[in-house]
Amino acid sequence: MEKNVIFTLVTMLYLLIYVVASPNNSTDEYALLAFIAQITSDPNKILAKNWSQRTSFCNWIGITCGARHQRVRSLSLANMGLGCTIAKEIGELSFLRVLIISNNNFHGFIQANFEK
Ligand SMILES: *[C@@H]1O[C@H](CO)[C@@H](O)[C@H](O)[C@H]1NC(C)=O
Ligand SMILES: *[C@@H]1O[C@H](CO)[C@@H](O)[C@H](O)[C@H]1NC(C)=O
Ligand SMILES: *[C@@H]1O[C@H](CO)[C@@H](O)[C@H](O)[C@H]1NC(C)=O
Repeated sequence: MEKNVIFTLVTMLYLLIYVVASPNNSTDEYALLAFIAQITSDPNKILAKNWSQRTSFCNWIGITCGARHQRVRSLSLANMGLGCTIAKEIGELSFLRVLIISNNNFHGFIQANFEK
């Protein structure tokens, strides 16, 4: 085979591995669904009504996504009366920069796995 062809094939292979293996917005969706699955108190049904999988999580209340990657950039859930043990998957929101969850009843730890 010609060198160029091999080079192209190897490059394509790396690209494929990169795309398949790298976290993407379905990682974020998975983390958010894990989070909501743990909610034990949502007195005003804010999340129950609004966090609908019919629309992108970027349209969900309290969530702001970065324009470029469509990944969760901020999570702002203050004063919603929410209660839960925070799902560990929240630490997988690797683009998260802002987390505002005051005046709720959250328990647990978040072990962040931020993008370097
Ligand atoms: C997103 O990531 C998941 C799991 O890491 C993977 O299975 C899926 O193919 C990826 N999707 C895209 C569009 O890259
Ligand atoms: C959720 O709330 C956002 C922001 O208030 C709103 O734009 C959106 O239409 C709501 N979605 C649903 C399904 O209620
Ligand atoms: C995830 O990203 C893909 C491709 O960038 C896009 O088509 C899809 O709507 C996004 N999903 C969510 C839930 O934002």
